[in-house]
Parts: sequence; structure tokens; C-alpha cells
Amino acid sequence: MRPYALLVASIAALGGLLFGYDTGVISGAILFIGKEFVLDSRYAALTISVVLIGCIAGSAVAGSVADRIGRRWTLFVAGVVFLAGALISALTPNETILLAGRFIVGIGIGFSSVVAPLYISEVAPAPVRGALVSLYQFAITVGILAAYLVDYVFAAAGQWRWMLGLAVVPSVVLMAGMMGMPESPRFLFKAGEEERAQNELTRIYEDPAESRREEASIREALRFKSLGVRGLMSPEIRPALFIGVTLAVLQQITGINTVIYYGPQIFEMAGIGSASVSILAQTLVGTVNCGMTLVAIFFVDRVGRKPLLYTGLAGMFIALATMAIAFSQPHLSGSLAAIALVSMMAYVGCFAFSLGPILWLLLSEIFPLRVRGAGMSVSTLANWVGNFLVSQFFLVMIERLGRSATFAIYAALCIVTIVFVRYMVPETKQELLEQVRVSAR
Ligand code: BGC
Repeated sequence: MRPYALLVASIAALGGLLFGYDTGVISGAILFIGKEFVLDSRYAALTISVVLIGCIAGSAVAGSVADRIGRRWTLFVAGVVFLAGALISALTPNETILLAGRFIVGIGIGFSSVVAPLYISEVAPAPVRGALVSLYQFAITVGILAAYLVDYVFAAAGQWRWMLGLAVVPSVVLMAGMMGMPESPRFLFKAGEEERAQNELTRIYEDPAESRREEASIREALRFKSLGVRGLMSPEIRPALFIGVTLAVLQQITGINTVIYYGPQIFEMAGIGSASVSILAQTLVGTVNCGMTLVAIFFVDRVGRKPLLYTGLAGMFIALATMAIAFSQPHLSGSLAAIALVSMMAYVGCFAFSLGPILWLLLSEIFPLRVRGAGMSVSTLANWVGNFLVSQFFLVMIERLGRSATFAIYAALCIVTIVFVRYMVPETKQELLEQVRVSAR
């Protein structure tokens, strides 16, 4: 039990909650927004995707902001941006301002997706770092589930402004919470604030010997000069950058957001006709996603990152391959439809304890302190670009290639990911953050 570190990680994880809520909420809201503003389908699609463009922009700059003003204030700024975006979107008089509001929300998500895991990993004691960063992914899944439920509750009266506006509550809690949180001891050492840094380490570690060991390893890391984005291309850093960017893209192109964003359409393909059953099934997806993340929190520091990745990815492969086979039939009979739906849940569940949390964890671990902000920014940016591409092209793929081939491609990409993890990704379990080494293999 490390109550202090748990408290700090939980407040920072609110950034994840907003990430999940704001990416999930639009799927239900768009139906009513489209009616009120009489949007054509292209404008409706833009209203959905503009948030991802904001995420790309936000994640591109978040790392350098965090290296300049610190992790803590960057997360505070993310809270302010979330608040502004939610208010503008909820109170908008027209669709153009709504687009601006959603873009601002995207910037907030981009910021928090870089800085929240970075901050948590820097304040977490090594033995529980995996669990605490996985808490961030857990918060993302709680946010997604909350969005599905809020959409469901407000759908009866078509109150889309409430759906978008409720994000105000966690935004304010994030801002207020971050004001009371400490700065990361790593950032403080880097900024030359030794005494504050030492105090923070003592509070995090409780045991003075552990705290001294951590301090020594941070000091060792600080012998090297801080490098900006350009430093990412230096020969010692390039392998970490390659792993970060590739894994971030693989997390997306193995298809998770097809289910998270387009679940109801997939249910329809499997033959579920009624909208209310679809919404219910989507809530079940959200619950599985949330519940299975707990498995990662429990095991990631015990069995390690790579065993969880192998198990989860193998499960995702089997589930996707089963979906590909089921969808190869022109009509899904009752039992085949049930198999497809169970596979979809299994796929989400396997992602939730593996590639979901462990991507964010590894991104926060593999870059040395002197390029950590920049490295996380660039990798996270790649994650958002992958997200944008998959969500833009999923329905097109279904139309052009067919349902079966589409899921078969995602299945094949799970195998690619297993091979990549096997040969490229280091095991970081129990290592002090500054002692993680990524070498070219
Ligand atoms: C991914 C998101 C995804 C979410 C689902 C995150 O780790 O980055 O794109 O929507 O997991 O739980």
C-alpha cells in the first residue's frame, strides 16, 4: 500500500477519465446535434473527427510544454482546456462554434494523453509503477463507460448539450486536484530544485534507503544534457523512438476503436435490429473494457509487461479471427451471431488487460529523462494519427473489402504485434525508471 502515490496517480488519472468521456460521448450526442443543426453527413463526420485532429495538435506540443513548465502545471492547463472546450461545446449557438469547442476538447485530450502517464510514472515507486499507470487506462475506460451511460440517460429527451457539458465536472476536479498535487521529483531535480525534489522522494518512498537509491539513479541520468525533439534522432535514443512510435500505431491499427466507436454498427451487422438492444450491448462492451483493465492493474508488476501482452494479443487474435469467420457468412444465424458478439467482447477484454494499459506504461518508461517529454509527445502523436486513420476508414474498409476481410486484417496485425513485442520490446518490470535501457537489437 502506497496511499500517497495512489492519491497522486488517481488525481492525474482524471485526465484519462476525460480522455475516455470526451472520445466516447459524441457517438450518442451526434444523433441529436445532427437534427438540431440539420447537419449533412459530411459535416456530422467532421463533428466527430475534429476532436481527433485536436488530439493530434495537443499531443504534438504537450511534451515540450511539460519539459518547460513542469508536469503538474501542464496537467492543470489540460484541465482548463477541457473546461473551456466543454463549456463552448455545450453552450454553442451554431455548428461552427461547436466544431471549435470540440477541437479545443481534443487539445485537452492530446495534452492529458501525453502528460498524465508521464507524470504518474515519474511519481510512482518502481514496484507499483505498472499498476499506477494502468490506473490511468482504467480511468479512460471508466470515462468511456460513463459516456455511454450518460448518452443513454439523456437520449430520451435528446439533451445533447448536457451530454457534452457534463465533462465540466471532472475538469474542475482535475484543476482543483492538480493545484494540491506535488511536482514530479524528476522534473524538480532537472529544474535544480533539489530540496523540494528530495522532500517529494521521501514522501513517495517512505523508506529512506529506497528514496536515496532512486535519487542516485535520477542524478546519474541528469549527468546528460537535456535534449529536445531533435535529440530523439540521436543514435542512443532512436531505438526507443522506434519502439514507442511503432507500438503506439499498432495499438490503434489492431482495431480497438472500431468496437469502441462503432459498436452499434457492428451489432447491426451481426443482426441485432433494435437500437435499444444495441445501446445495451455497447454498455456491456464498456463494462468488459473497464473490468478487464483491473486484471492489468493486479498483474502488470507481478508477471511483467511482456507476458500480459502475449496473452492479451493472442486472445485478440483468436477473437478477431472468429469474427472474420462468422462474418464470412452472408447471413448470421442465431448461434453464429452470438459467437460473433461474444468474440467482440472477448476481443475488448483481452485488449483491456494488455495493449490498452501497457502501451501507455511502456511509453512512459522507455525514454530517458532527457528526452522523455519529447519522446512521449511524438509517440502519442503517432497513436492519435493511427486512431484518426482507423476511425475514418473503418466503414470504408467494410464497404470495399467486406466485413470478414476487415476483421481478418486486424487479426493479422495482432500477430505482427506479437512478433514486434517478442523481438523489440524490453521487459521493464520492477526496474527503476532511470535504469530502463532500450538498446538496438
Ligand atoms: C486507447 C484508445 C481506446 C481506449 C479504449 C486506449 O488505450 O489509446 O484509443 O479508445 O484505450 O479503452
